[in-house]
Amino acid sequence: MSKQEIPVPEGWTGPAVKLSNGVRMPILGVGTSQVGGFSQDAVLFALRDCGVRLVDTSKYNGFEVQLAEAIRDSGVPRSYLWLTNKLWPLDYGYETAKTAFHKSCSQMGVEYLDLYMLHWPGSMQPGRSNRELRAEAWRALEELYEEGLCRSIGVSNFMIHHLDQLKEDCAIVPHLNQVEYHPFQQPNELIEYCRHEGIAFQGYCPLAKGQVLSSPTIIQVAQKYRRTPAQICIRWSVQNGAITIPKSTKKEHVAENFQVLDFQLDEEDMLVINKMHDGRHVSWDPGDVE
Ligand SMILES: NC(=O)c1ccc[n+]([C@@H]2O[C@H](COP(=O)([O-])OP(=O)(O)OC[C@H]3O[C@@H](n4cnc5c(N)ncnc54)[C@H](OP(=O)(O)O)[C@@H]3O)[C@@H](O)[C@H]2O)c1
Repeated sequence: MSKQEIPVPEGWTGPAVKLSNGVRMPILGVGTSQVGGFSQDAVLFALRDCGVRLVDTSKYNGFEVQLAEAIRDSGVPRSYLWLTNKLWPLDYGYETAKTAFHKSCSQMGVEYLDLYMLHWPGSMQPGRSNRELRAEAWRALEELYEEGLCRSIGVSNFMIHHLDQLKEDCAIVPHLNQVEYHPFQQPNELIEYCRHEGIAFQGYCPLAKGQVLSSPTIIQVAQKYRRTPAQICIRWSVQNGAITIPKSTKKEHVAENFQVLDFQLDEEDMLVINKMHDGRHVSWDPGDVE
């Protein structure tokens, strides 16, 4: 596959975010974390019945084979999909990264990935520095990208100091950084840094794993727009330009989560939600990772 051949996932009619290499990525997709469960049927429903084209997963999640089955059963052609996977830190290193990439592709039944990223800034390998192992793994990703095996390469959970170091050590600036992002967790300094460096911003846990859905502020905004709290949070994230990947095991929630591209939040309501940041993480906090 040449990078020029498929500039946009065919069949995606919603908004897309243009990465620094010109590739356009759907702004909304589905996640597949193991916390709270995984449903192959829900992913199948998203792909086949809701027009979802972006699926985010990782080796760590452990659902690559189930995803391959859902993709096959959906009948959606590979070129219509945006598939993201992540390299787990225990595979950081040059050769190990390449081996892990090929294994993940094989498990998912695909020949290329649309986005492949370093999952976490820590290397989890005693005796070697995080910085050194990140750079080694990143060089492997750069080669996979140059070979056309990934349409784009990125990082996840990287803070400004990790990105600064990678910039010094490597040739390609990550196309994207995927970080926890919801009304309670708004890393605005990092978002501004990414914007300045041409790194697209992707948010994970847009519903704060469900914690934000009972917030009186969100419920009040939801009532105003006659939408659900989940739709308000997903809309807020998308409207702020973040690529957003809510996860649900329930078909009715999957359908609901994708009905957010047909309305807009007023500026005053965006500002109200922008003020909800309290710094809490519902996933992991990479702030202290060297
Ligand atoms: N890069 C990373 O390190 C990292 C870390 C964490 C997550 N992620 C990615 O981000 C994705 C999303 O994060 P997440 O799954 O942790 O959390 P999330 O999307 O914020 O929340 C998922 C929770 O919200 C519930 N939910 C979903 N839609 C709902 C709706 N419409 N109404 C009510 N409840 C709803 C789900 O329950 P039901 O199943 O009952 O609907 C589930 O318990 C993950 O799946 C993963 O792909 C990446």
